Amino acid sequence: MSRSYFIRTYGCQMNEHDTGRIARLLEADGMTSADAMESADVIVLNTCCIRENADNKLYGQLGHLKRLKQARPDVQIAVAGCLAQKDREMIQERADHVDVVFGTHNVHRAAELIGAAADGPVIEILEAAVEDDRDSFPSALPVRRDAPYAAWMTIQAGCDNSCAFCIVPAVRGAEVSRPMELLVAEAAELAAGGVTEITLLGQNVNSYGRDLQRNRRRAGQPVPLRPLFADLLRSIGGVDGIERIRFTSPHPKDLRSETIDSMAEVPAVCEHLHLPLQSGSSRVLAAMHRGYTAERYLERLRAARAAVDDLAVSTDIIVGFPGETEDDFRQTLLVAAEAEFDSAFTFVYSPRPGTEAAAMADEFCDPDEVRERFERLREVVERSSRRGNQARVGGCEEVVVEGPSKRDPGLLTGRTRQNRLVHFPAAQALKPGTFAAVEVVAAGAHHLRGELAEVTAPPRWRTRIPVAAF
Ligand code: 5AD
Ligand code: SF4
Repeated sequence: MSRSYFIRTYGCQMNEHDTGRIARLLEADGMTSADAMESADVIVLNTCCIRENADNKLYGQLGHLKRLKQARPDVQIAVAGCLAQKDREMIQERADHVDVVFGTHNVHRAAELIGAAADGPVIEILEAAVEDDRDSFPSALPVRRDAPYAAWMTIQAGCDNSCAFCIVPAVRGAEVSRPMELLVAEAAELAAGGVTEITLLGQNVNSYGRDLQRNRRRAGQPVPLRPLFADLLRSIGGVDGIERIRFTSPHPKDLRSETIDSMAEVPAVCEHLHLPLQSGSSRVLAAMHRGYTAERYLERLRAARAAVDDLAVSTDIIVGFPGETEDDFRQTLLVAAEAEFDSAFTFVYSPRPGTEAAAMADEFCDPDEVRERFERLREVVERSSRRGNQARVGGCEEVVVEGPSKRDPGLLTGRTRQNRLVHFPAAQALKPGTFAAVEVVAAGAHHLRGELAEVTAPPRWRTRIPVAAF
């Protein structure tokens, strides 16, 4: 009988995407997907280390798995991802029932390493992506996808910045962009397989291509100024069948006008910009080494909004960076209010050992004060997101159906181009990936409620199809 696997993913979309790759490799090795962790023969924890509670969650989970391993000693436990890359040997020191530890650059070896662990514990961590073999770059591995209509594409691994709070450069290494021809071919292949929506992933997508230029310069070859991220958006936007392109995350300091122009001009690029602010205080931004001021951030945002009609904007903000004063925090509230974010991921600063900010212990903020600031920020963001959602009431939105609503299975959930969730009743089941027009009847801070107006074909061959035909 074939062995079964279960993968638990922590953290960001990049990790979700790596999980899809690991799943495909294990399936190619003859394993099948288990319904629950407790019944699987191989358990992979694909970890994140961006904030401390991710560490705590992993070690908590490993404690639970120790009992499972005692009951079923032939279960194999593997720890992958960013925390594996960072903690390495320490994982097996803290949890000796872990069989395999592999890092972010070893994803392509998942099946072999798990196989090898039958003879004893295995640890394999590569320091950096294998740059000279870009065709077999782990990002190019086949992926198991959960949604038939949507896919992620890693356009770039690693990060060349050095934000004082961030552990990513230490665990994901230097920026490595995948060549544009390969990405466009991959998009065409996905479209041929029925994918209509692609999300481009990178730590700093705006600097896409910079390392390719640098490598040519080092090799003494002529250095064209391209490809830029804008070129990539245009090329993927030209792939027949790709209706929606999203990307995450651009860095405000590198948001070029070429990128904004291509967002405005390429019909498939969605009217949504995720632009991490981190802080509204220029003093704190300087201490973070973000490379922009609050004024510059707002100026880029105005430029993007002026060019892209009906642009939704989301962001990431950290509260309580070391040395953040009440006055700094008020600047963040002011910028957040002025930016009118449609949504925001807000985080309490979490010291990551090895980063510059973690060494600023004498400037750490008082946790009670941080909690209170966090709440005040949430209220400001919620006000603008609610206002943004309410402005949609009475209008009609194009959604792509994701499936039954998680809260109420009697409703369907769809996503608009602006990344808003819309819940609506549907008399008949609509398959995930179906395009539909929905009249918006009500709005909350985090979602819209609607009524199905009609099922539509994807925009490029849009002839209206009566609802009853589905
Ligand atoms: N503490 C809190 N939030 C962090 N982020 C990154 N590092 C930290 C940290 N040490 C947040 C940033 C980033 C998002 C992915 O996670 O806001 O944009
Ligand atoms: Fe971290 Fe800054 Fe790189 Fe983003 S840009 S991954 S926050 S170092």
